[in-house]
Amino acid sequence: MNYYIITGASRGLGKALAEALLEDEQNCVVGVSRNSTITHARYRHQPLDFSDIAGVEHNLHKVFAPFEDAQNLVLVNNAGVIGEIGYMGQSKNEHFEFVFDVNVIVPAMFMNLFLQSYQHRQNCGKMIVNISSGAGQKAKDGWAAYCASKAALDMLSQTAQLEQDQLNTGIKVFSVAPGIIDTDMQEQIREADVDQFSSVQQFRDYKAQGALASPEEAAQKILRLINEPQIARGVVCSVRDF
Ligand SMILES: NC(=O)c1ccc[n+]([C@@H]2O[C@H](COP(=O)([O-])OP(=O)(O)OC[C@H]3O[C@@H](n4cnc5c(N)ncnc54)[C@H](OP(=O)(O)O)[C@@H]3O)[C@@H](O)[C@H]2O)c1
Repeated sequence: MNYYIITGASRGLGKALAEALLEDEQNCVVGVSRNSTITHARYRHQPLDFSDIAGVEHNLHKVFAPFEDAQNLVLVNNAGVIGEIGYMGQSKNEHFEFVFDVNVIVPAMFMNLFLQSYQHRQNCGKMIVNISSGAGQKAKDGWAAYCASKAALDMLSQTAQLEQDQLNTGIKVFSVAPGIIDTDMQEQIREADVDQFSSVQQFRDYKAQGALASPEEAAQKILRLINEPQIARGVVCSVRDF
């Protein structure tokens, strides 16, 4: 069996990825998010709110079962939030904590526990795919916490890969920008005030012009990375390159 732990599997990219994986009867998916929206014999849901760090610390171990018959174990850190769009100096302090908890702190805890649990497992492929964003490489006004959180995720991934290479575990780690996808997150971006995000019209135009990828199309690209990791140009990569 192949086991995929996917955070944010309740909607958007994470759900499309989980559903695509479940089409293969060799795959089982553990989805982690606040809501459960998938019913399938090979799907297990672990409810967790990533903005509740104490709750995550208490329940995280439930995700990482022994999976004794695993041939492949894959963690996809996909859950993410953009938070309230707005300039620094006009944001609430809690906003930074919220975005970093969901986008960085909890994904780092997932990576840590995944490695702790499965690092030394023999005869089993192991991979961590963190869903990042081009915003981690290029600043956008109004998105400070989001941009910084994705930059942090990129560096966590690079460091983890360096360490796994030193340890010779064969574990692959990626931080992949999935492109612009037609999900709730994009809807929230299009609703921003132009004073809080100067490029908002560009994002409205993307939608109007049909330039957004569907979650299913984006999921296929992530699947391709999982199945053919050699297509990535490096740890930090973009679906635009495959
Ligand atoms: N959409 C884009 O254009 C785009 C572009 C670049 C990068 N990305 C990245 O792609 C990933 C997926 O984005 P998406 O567009 O699919 O987003 P989405 O449609 O808004 O879905 C977000 C997912 O994250 C989960 N989530 C949100 N808050 C959570 C919390 N407090 N605790 C646990 N889970 C939580 C949600 O589940 P619940 O609500 O059930 O908890 C949901 O399943 C994100 O990391 C995002 O940054 C997206």
